Amino acid sequence: MTQILVIGSEGQLGNEIQKLSKDIQEASFVFTSLETLDVTDSNKLDETVRNTNYDYIINCTAYTAVDKAEEDQNLAYEINAQALEVIGLASKAINAKVIHVSTDYVFDGCNHKPYIESDTTAPQSVYGKTKLKGEQLLMEKNHNSIVIRTSWLYSSHGNNFVKTMIKLGQERDELGIIFDQIGSPTYAGDLAKSIIHMVKSDIAQSIPFIAGIYHYSNEGVASWYDFARTIHKKKGIQCALKPIESKEYPTPAPRPHYSVMNKGKIKKAYQLTIPHWEDSLEHCLAELDIKQN
Ligand SMILES: NC(=O)c1ccc[n+]([C@@H]2O[C@H](COP(=O)([O-])OP(=O)(O)OC[C@H]3O[C@@H](n4cnc5c(N)ncnc54)[C@H](OP(=O)(O)O)[C@@H]3O)[C@@H](O)[C@H]2O)c1
Repeated sequence: MTQILVIGSEGQLGNEIQKLSKDIQEASFVFTSLETLDVTDSNKLDETVRNTNYDYIINCTAYTAVDKAEEDQNLAYEINAQALEVIGLASKAINAKVIHVSTDYVFDGCNHKPYIESDTTAPQSVYGKTKLKGEQLLMEKNHNSIVIRTSWLYSSHGNNFVKTMIKLGQERDELGIIFDQIGSPTYAGDLAKSIIHMVKSDIAQSIPFIAGIYHYSNEGVASWYDFARTIHKKKGIQCALKPIESKEYPTPAPRPHYSVMNKGKIKKAYQLTIPHWEDSLEHCLAELDIKQN
């Protein structure tokens, strides 16, 4: 039976992969979390990967606190970059294929059209720089790796923009939301489905595992202001939203002004139909309602 190791399975994406794994008969999954496998422990990470003949390693760990990373550079590097070198070497030794997730923050945001995979990277933050290094180290050590860059990830699990907007919208009468950063929201459930589809297609030999970098987000484009407005509208939250510029809300880590990614490559290679972000947002809100009741 196909053996799959999912590292960092208690995060937003990892949690969605766990949910989907229950319906997959053709593979057996092992899930690790920060508690059971801290990826900064290189020896343990190396041993965990090498000790079983895994066919696939899916890495969902990350140091995702974008602003905190500016001060916490070493830890961000260990988790987002160094661990990928270890995973790359160990997976290569057991001949396993790797699927790893990266970010739109590897770009500087100066484009005027959606980024393609071969566009020049120029990360502006420690988070973006360490994630880019992780991509490079993994692909250098194990050529049989897929890196999926995604953006504005959210789910019903963990902390994210959707949950923050619901909470703040219910607590306050007015909120200032940035309107000059444009990107594409991504529902972690959709990304998880696509990752599982890639693995299942390889197992079934219907679509082979095609190593390389891919871009993935939901369809459509939004500013954070548009995103917040839609969340409030769909939830019936009455809160005055004021569009503000990034310079009115300074953060330790600069964000790209434009980080829309072109998803043509992954859609064509894996015959994917990607939902629009507004439709996926509805799924997530419905799931949140179920959790609350
Ligand atoms: N979130 C976004 O907006 C966003 C945007 C673009 C790309 N991405 C990328 O998408 C991927 C998935 O993101 P996500 O939102 O699912 O992240 P997440 O919810 O923050 O999950 C990351 C997981 O990694 C775990 N982790 C942190 N340090 C670890 C360590 N030393 N050893 C083992 N596990 C560790 C975390 O555990 P704890 O929670 O216990 O710390 C958490 O369960 C990441 O590669 C991220 O860079 C995310």
